[in-house]
Amino acid sequence: MQKVKMVKIAVIGTGYVGLVSGTCLAEIGHQVVCCDNDSQKIMTLKEGKIPIYEPGLEEMIRHNVMMKRLSFTTSIEEATKESLVIFIAVGTPPKENGEADLSYVEAVSREIGQAMDGYRVIVEKSTVPVKTGQWIKRTIEADNIHSHPFDVVSNPEFLREGSAIEDFMYPDRVVLGVESERAKQIMVEVYEPLNAPLVITSLESAELIKHASNSFLSLKISFINAISRICELVGADVEVVAKGMGLDKRIGPDFLRAGCGYGGFCFPKDLLAFIKIAEEVGYDFKLLKEVQEINEAQKMAVVRKTEELLWNLNNKTIGILGLAFKPNTDDMREAPSITIIKGLQSEGVKIKAYDPVAMPRAKEVLEDVIYGNDPYEVAEGSDCLILLTEWPQFKDLDLLKIKELLSRPNIVDGRNIYQPEEMRKLGFNYKSIGRP
Ligand code: UDX
Repeated sequence: MQKVKMVKIAVIGTGYVGLVSGTCLAEIGHQVVCCDNDSQKIMTLKEGKIPIYEPGLEEMIRHNVMMKRLSFTTSIEEATKESLVIFIAVGTPPKENGEADLSYVEAVSREIGQAMDGYRVIVEKSTVPVKTGQWIKRTIEADNIHSHPFDVVSNPEFLREGSAIEDFMYPDRVVLGVESERAKQIMVEVYEPLNAPLVITSLESAELIKHASNSFLSLKISFINAISRICELVGADVEVVAKGMGLDKRIGPDFLRAGCGYGGFCFPKDLLAFIKIAEEVGYDFKLLKEVQEINEAQKMAVVRKTEELLWNLNNKTIGILGLAFKPNTDDMREAPSITIIKGLQSEGVKIKAYDPVAMPRAKEVLEDVIYGNDPYEVAEGSDCLILLTEWPQFKDLDLLKIKELLSRPNIVDGRNIYQPEEMRKLGFNYKSIGRP
């Protein structure tokens, strides 16, 4: 990685995206100030602690603060005055009707407009509906009373929680929606150290690339999940089907893992927002509605499989292994575990659960759950174990010990981490996703 030219950058919003992007931009040699209106959060960050769980991030923040490339502030005015490029990375939570709530983006754009004292590049990093860039432009124009020149750029992120640093540092592509040569050159300088393929296009195309990519990935997951149901009906093995499909270079092997459904803060929210955007511009995106339905059905299929093993669910005790929406994160947002646990509880099931890092977060969203200190505590006395997150440590469990501890040897594997043949040899009644 070769440093080309240092750019002064502000990142507004220190959630997952803002904090990872700001820190990585400092790591590749830029001067970065991260800004948030949550003073508690900024204080925590100044003390060298991070409010989220992201492997490698804390060390990287400390290193860049020490190198004096990274600082924190609560003042958008200060951040705007100090920087040439300003990334907007504030939240765009879903409103009740599924549309993205853009009021934070608007408020920040206003403040930037008021604080600007010369040319600035304002970059939308938050996931936003197409045309938001134009709204940001209009908003800044209205508050930019001294008519300082500026450009708006769309630079969508494709960071996965748990591997966000690697995704930032080694991206498959960097998408830049730009409207002027001046902004293009500055943004190329910002990303030059990454040496990544650049897709330089219009604001609108860049905005669409983000929504189209996330929707397509959700579609791929729902597709293989639908195939898993057919596999169950005809006695085929979805793992082999996915392998056979994925070796075709046009399809590719990624995001073809059948399981208990996708979750997280991005896929469900972005899919809903994209369906809304399409509706607004006059297209009924039925395909994506089906993707959502398959995902919901996939979660409930886990409840049905458990019922097939236990006959009646009422008054049974079930141990849950894994609560986070995927491994290596404590994020519980839209985790399939929530729907599945609530579904089981509504049938009268008592729930015990263990997750290596997500239990504190789970306590905020789940009720009446007994948490264990390890998988064995959760197995003890349970009528069935259900695995919902494929944490690597669950692959190395002492399964014979688990079998002894369970009151009945039942396992539903929602992520296909164990082998059916081996589980049967060990004496389990074992059900997984789309395998005979
Ligand atoms: C996703 C996108 O990958 C990223 O580009 C975007 O910026 C944000 O949303 P993230 O939500 O962190 O990232 O997680 P990801 O690793 O993509 O997984 C999303 C969900 O899909 C998880 O619940 C995961 O378990 C599930 N999944 C993923 C599957 O069920 N099967 C797969 O084959 C892949």
